[in-house]
Amino acid sequence: MTTIAFIGSGHIGGTVARLSVAAGYDVVLSNSRGPETLKDLVAELGPRARAATPAEAAAAGDLVVVSIPLRAYRDVPVEPLAGKPVLDTNNYYPQRDGNLPQLDDGSVTSSELLQQHLPASKVVKVFNNIFFAHLGALHRPAGASDRTALPIAGDDAAAKETVTAFLDAIGYDATDAGPLAEGWRFQPGTPVYGNPYAGDQPNLSASPGVPAGAAKIRAGLDAATRQR
Ligand SMILES: NC(=O)c1ccc[n+]([C@@H]2O[C@H](COP(=O)([O-])OP(=O)(O)OC[C@H]3O[C@@H](n4cnc5c(N)ncnc54)[C@H](OP(=O)(O)O)[C@@H]3O)[C@@H](O)[C@H]2O)c1
Repeated sequence: MTTIAFIGSGHIGGTVARLSVAAGYDVVLSNSRGPETLKDLVAELGPRARAATPAEAAAAGDLVVVSIPLRAYRDVPVEPLAGKPVLDTNNYYPQRDGNLPQLDDGSVTSSELLQQHLPASKVVKVFNNIFFAHLGALHRPAGASDRTALPIAGDDAAAKETVTAFLDAIGYDATDAGPLAEGWRFQPGTPVYGNPYAGDQPNLSASPGVPAGAAKIRAGLDAATRQR
């Protein structure tokens, strides 16, 4: 039995937790304020869910989703995540996160920064480019003609395979964007950031969500490379 753990259980973490429980996984949720503040979400998710501290969640998870404001990345527990796939949903918004010089000068991507903090973990960047409401709406069974694809990036091939299988189980295809250094190709401001899943309409949150398959996501990733 695979347990999915969450460091951060807000819009994106909570949505991935709902999809995980629907797919039959056990989930362990955590946030900054303590397990008791997650009791409503645990009650909604039912017997497959429990809440814990970030360190306890990190220890319990076979796969661990880190979904917090990027400014807090140094708070992510290091030792209990050693050897594990860590799914990094985080995006860099300087106006929210403050300025991080390594990101401002482009010397590393945001997921490489998390990987530096977690040297013994296998960071895979995923769920970064889709609005949480669209993520909650666009899941489809394997083989569906309108299945949506999500880009992933990572330096560990086995971890990417694990994440691809997890995405498949919760209703999504994966499009491999390459190593973590290529993760910028689906960061804020790129063609595949939010837009494909909103049918390219400018008011993203007003869209109910539009399926976007692997060909569309691949074309957007390639466009980012050409535009650089
Ligand atoms: N919203 C989206 O549609 C979307 C889409 C793609 C990617 N993202 C990215 O994914 C990340 C999460 O976004 P979100 O919208 O889900 O944010 P959110 O709704 O504000 O949730 C953030 C979660 O992180 C927790 N948290 C904050 N600081 C923490 C810490 N030091 N240790 C442990 N947990 C901590 C919060 O817990 P407390 O409430 O207890 O502080 C909360 O559960 C961000 O980097 C965002 O840019 C968001």
